[in-house]
Amino acid sequence: MSSQGYAFADVADVQERLRETGYLADEAIATTVFLADRLGKPLLVEGPAGVGKTELAKALTTAVGAELIRLQCYEGLDEARALYEWNYKKQLLRIQAGASLAPEAVAGVAGAAGADRAAGESAGLATWRETHDDIFSEEFLLSRPLLTAIRRSEPTVLLIDETDKADVEVEGLLLEVLSDFQVTIPELGTLKATRRPFVILTSNATRELSEALKRRCLYLNLDYPSAAREKEIVLSRVPELGERMAESLVRIVRSLRAMELKKAPSIAETIDWGQTVLALGFDTMDDAAVTSTLGVVLKHASDQARAISQLKLGAN
Ligand SMILES: Nc1ncnc2c1ncn2[C@@H]1O[C@H](COP(=O)(O)OP(=O)(O)OP(=O)(O)O)[C@@H](O)[C@H]1O
Ligand SMILES: [Mg+2]
Repeated sequence: MSSQGYAFADVADVQERLRETGYLADEAIATTVFLADRLGKPLLVEGPAGVGKTELAKALTTAVGAELIRLQCYEGLDEARALYEWNYKKQLLRIQAGASLAPEAVAGVAGAAGADRAAGESAGLATWRETHDDIFSEEFLLSRPLLTAIRRSEPTVLLIDETDKADVEVEGLLLEVLSDFQVTIPELGTLKATRRPFVILTSNATRELSEALKRRCLYLNLDYPSAAREKEIVLSRVPELGERMAESLVRIVRSLRAMELKKAPSIAETIDWGQTVLALGFDTMDDAAVTSTLGVVLKHASDQARAISQLKLGAN
C-alpha cells in the first residue's frame, strides 16, 4: 500500500498488478477498480455468468496482499448468517453452570416463599443482570462475514457474491455496513471499522438491486470480452493450446454467443474448451472436433441442436 493508504498508484498500476495475478483487466475494469480504491466506495460488478466477476475480487485480493472474506448470498440468507449471531448453546451452558453454582439465586428468580422472598428476588435479579451482561459479551458472539470484515485491522477484501440471489431484506442489512462501515449490536453498541475493507459486490442481474444500495456503490458492467482479450485470457490459462487453436475456439464461441441460446458460453467455458481439445490432442477445430466436444460449452440439448444447425455442422 502507498503512503496515502491507497492500494494503487494509477490505472496502469491496477492493470499491471492484476495481470501479475493472472487476471487480464481491460481499461474500463482497471479504471473502476482504481476509483473504488481512491473513493473508498464499494464496487458493484454486474454481468452474465462466468465473465470473471468473482475472479476479479480474488485477483484484487492477491494484488493488494489482503485477505478475502466472502459472503455467498442465497435465498434465505439472514442476519444470523451474514452479520452475527449469539452462540445460544454456549449461553445456555453458562446459565446452567451459573445456576448450579448459585442455586439460591435461581430460586430467587423462580420465586422464593415467605420473608426471604423479596431479598431473594432482588439478589436473583442482580445475578440475572450479571448473567445477562456476561452472556451477551464478546465471548458469546459468533461473527459472520460482514462483521468479521468490518473488525479486521489487516487489509481485507470483502466479497459479497451473487447479491441478487439474496432476498431484498438483506440489502437493508448491507446498507448500514456499506455506507457507514459499522454494525450496531443492541447488546454491545456500534462497532465501527478501524480499517475499511475493499468491498466488491457481484450480481448476475437476475433481479434489480435497490437504488439505495446502488447509490452507495461504484458500478461496473462486466460483459464478454473482446475477441483479442478472450484469446489472451484463454492463452494465459491454457498456454499449451497455441495461438491458432485459441483463435479458432474464441471465434466459434463468439458465434455461439450471437445465437439465441438458453445459456451462452462464458469465458470459463471457453477455457474449459481449450483444456478439452488440448487433452484430446486436436490440432484443428474442424466440424468433427466441434461436434464431439460441444457439451463443454453448451449444456442444453436445444442449444446444441441449434448450434449444430446454424454452424452447419455435419452438413457434409
Ligand atoms: N479477465 C480475466 N482474466 C483471467 N481470467 C478470467 C478473466 N475473466 C474470467 N476469467 C476466467 O473465467 C473463470 C470464471 O470467472 P468467474 O468465476 O469469476 O465468473 P463469474 O462472473 O463470477 O461467474 P458467476 O456469475 O457464474 O459466478 C475464472 O475462473 C477465470 O479463470
Ligand atoms: Mg461468481
